[in-house]
Amino acid sequence: MADDRADSSRLAEVQRRVAQVHHEGHPEQQLRFYDGWAPEYEELQAKGFCRLHGLDGSQGMLEHACRKGIYQDLKRCLLGQEALPAPEGCYDAVLIVGALSEGQVPTSVVPELLRVTRPGGYLCLTTRSNTGNLEYKAQLQQVLNELEQRGLWRKVMEQEVEAWERATSEKESAQGVEYIPGVVYLYQKSPVL
Ligand SMILES: C[S@@+](CC[C@H](N)C(=O)[O-])C[C@H]1O[C@@H](n2cnc3c(N)ncnc32)[C@H](O)[C@@H]1O
Repeated sequence: MADDRADSSRLAEVQRRVAQVHHEGHPEQQLRFYDGWAPEYEELQAKGFCRLHGLDGSQGMLEHACRKGIYQDLKRCLLGQEALPAPEGCYDAVLIVGALSEGQVPTSVVPELLRVTRPGGYLCLTTRSNTGNLEYKAQLQQVLNELEQRGLWRKVMEQEVEAWERATSEKESAQGVEYIPGVVYLYQKSPVL
């Protein structure tokens, strides 16, 4: 019960920060906001996550991550084509941010992410909600829903974010779209399987 309360308060704090950053309209205010967050940004250790492992398909990205000095293990892996190099149920939390989208990591990776999460552990996934990614997003939601219907996990939160990231496709830029929307999903793996 105490753990549940601590989890909820941590989640509320993350939601408050995400909402705040998306409501800071003026660039100067946004930068001040990030100044305040910087000392603990990427410091998951401060929240009790002491062992951080990272995966990416790009060697350059892995080298960049290595220079941060916060990961105990970094491996190259082509997600969706190779099994995750980790035993079942070994992680308290699994995050995949900015990689689940058309032309990147296929939705077939999701059961693998769930496999390596411990029973009762959490998974955070993100995808884009722009028109070019809607087919992928629908396919992803189908995979997420199927796993929930099978009782393998439960959805804790789904949050659409209007200004998720800067539009990068020429088509969107030509249409004057500055930011595209996105969505964050938080799931909890079933404690008993
Ligand atoms: C937009 S970046 C996001 C990086 C980081 N997660 C972040 O939020 O800043 C997408 C990352 O996904 C990786 N990626 C794309 N497809 C991949 C695949 N099939 N397997 C492994 N990594 C992949 C890319 O190398 C890149 O590092």
